[in-house]
Amino acid sequence: MHVVPGPANPGLAATVANRIGAGLAETESRTFPDGEMYVRINTPLRDEPVVVVQSTRTNDDLVTLLLLLDACRAQGARSVTAVVPYFGYARQDQRFQDGEALSAAVIARAIALDAQNLVTVDPHKPSILEHFHGTSIVETAVPELAEHLKTLGVDLVLAPDAGARDRAGEAAKFMGVEMDHLEKQRIDAHTVQIAPKNINTAGRVVAIVDDLISTGGTMARATSTLLAQGAKEVHCAATHGLFVDNAVKRLMDSGVKSILVVDTIPGKRADVSAAPAIVRGIERVQKRAEKTVTN
Ligand code: R5P
Repeated sequence: MHVVPGPANPGLAATVANRIGAGLAETESRTFPDGEMYVRINTPLRDEPVVVVQSTRTNDDLVTLLLLLDACRAQGARSVTAVVPYFGYARQDQRFQDGEALSAAVIARAIALDAQNLVTVDPHKPSILEHFHGTSIVETAVPELAEHLKTLGVDLVLAPDAGARDRAGEAAKFMGVEMDHLEKQRIDAHTVQIAPKNINTAGRVVAIVDDLISTGGTMARATSTLLAQGAKEVHCAATHGLFVDNAVKRLMDSGVKSILVVDTIPGKRADVSAAPAIVRGIERVQKRAEKTVTN
């Protein structure tokens, strides 16, 4: 088996290859002067199961992934697993208004053109993978995030809203601490207050756990509110750190004690490895393939 490293995650791909005992394929990728992408896989992959690791944070990342999947086929791969640690466009998981494109479904269908299996980590909603016509596996890096949060003395986990409770609840369970979610409460006609639904955070060391940090607005608002309500420390943790538009400064200004993300998108603050989650995902793909053969 070979792992094909996409240019978005070369380090992560190498770690995954090492952990599963696979070879690391040699690839080339570049951008033409007009902005078009080019990829080539130099390692023969004849009749091998192949894993391509490439997050799709940008449109170029996405096109590169699609090109790599085609190149795997051209190199003779027996089966192709697309590991997409950060699955871009996942937040457009519904047609919120008439006439909108269902972006997450479009991307899933495009990946399915040349990949039989898809593994992703903490997508905004797992239901997006229903649009992938193959074996799809959703893995989570929450146990690894939680392990790190434990070392910071966190004693309460909060989800930024009710929709994010499952992920935060999983972290809290792993850490053996309480959890709650933040809720907007209307105080009067002019005032809306954000506060935990049930638990008083005064004196607590809190971690807000979400799927991603983009502009940091969600976490920054929550942090300043919790500190104003008496929380001792607020730590922000998410799987994917996009950090757009001065997100880190926004978070620091809000008084956050630490920011923790996973290396699905490499960066200075990506201190938690997605490799264990990806290896679990690849093992689940392999088990399903074995089951199909024996049936
Ligand atoms: C929203 O549904 C997501 O789960 C995140 O809470 C959100 O996208 C974070 O974005 P930002 O960092 O820009 O507030």
